[in-house]
Amino acid sequence: MSIPHGIRTLGVLGAGQMGLGIAFVSALRAKVPVLLHDRSPEQVTKGLALMDKLLAKDVSKGRITTEAAKDARERVTVVDAKGLRDVDMVVEAVSENLLLKQSIFRSLAAELRPDAILASNTSSISITKIAAAAVPEGLSAASEQGKASAGRVVGLHFFNPVPVMKLVELISALQTTPETLGRAESFAIACGKEVTTSKDVPGFVSNALLMPFINEAIMCLEKGTATRDHIDTTLKLGMNHPMGPLQLADFIGLDTCLAIQQTLYEGTRDSKYRPSILLERMVDAQWYGRKNGKGFYEYND
Ligand code: 3HC
Repeated sequence: MSIPHGIRTLGVLGAGQMGLGIAFVSALRAKVPVLLHDRSPEQVTKGLALMDKLLAKDVSKGRITTEAAKDARERVTVVDAKGLRDVDMVVEAVSENLLLKQSIFRSLAAELRPDAILASNTSSISITKIAAAAVPEGLSAASEQGKASAGRVVGLHFFNPVPVMKLVELISALQTTPETLGRAESFAIACGKEVTTSKDVPGFVSNALLMPFINEAIMCLEKGTATRDHIDTTLKLGMNHPMGPLQLADFIGLDTCLAIQQTLYEGTRDSKYRPSILLERMVDAQWYGRKNGKGFYEYND
């Protein structure tokens, strides 16, 4: 049977909260075999345990059959970095660091088949900069081969928690080909997502709007405008947001919020994006939010 995205095997790089969620929706909803890689075995174990829990909950709520859950789980295989070589598309979901992503895309471009799509789940980093690293060494970026190699890079931005949030933001680098864009969009739709597109600007649409909002909330706390609980309650009850901005910052990860804000600030040189000192200090203290138990709130689970 022909499928519009043509993805018969997906690679997911990074088994953190985003990578795991992407593996989950790909295996369960798009029904695509997933090869999952993370350099940390603990992260993989933690991720797979969460996947089992989410599948069991879907079964207990009658949303899927036991068989569908078993099939989805069996579609996910843990591999080492070399195990991604034959995939039709890879989604990279490692931390928000340009140099790290560029080094990953350099290796992917050299090792994967020339027709494999290379997608990044980056929240804010330029897809054009990432794509520029996907030109194999010795090739000119302006040559036909160089353009073809960078042309298979695309931004595929999922939202946390991936199984629940209905959106994927699709970002085209200057180099991205229409074919890559079309296949990536079809794949996101097969994962059950609605797709919006954004130009390759720092933070795209989503985080160019969300991060100044979160940052303003942190500045309110810093200035003593209101308490943590009153800031969050104002937005939850006054504007019907599912989470207050401080709670949401903890949920996303304070280190991730800071990395995105730094990308926005450096990429635009606009002072409205300057990260608050309190956020910087909390990250200095290694208080990363929900992921390690301490942020604006404390977490014991
Ligand atoms: N993984 C999978 N499912 C999860 C989950 C997770 N981490 N966290 C919650 N859920 C599920 C629950 O299991 C529950 O499912 P159910 O209906 O089958 O029981 C459902 O979500 C609702 O959860 P709860 O009843 O426990 O709690 P809430 O009603 O408060 O919902 C929430 C939790 C869905 C996280 C909601 O608070 C929410 O939508 N918060 C805002 C999230 C948000 O804004 N995300 C985007 C962040 S920005 C981003 O990701 C971009 C990046 O670039 C920074």
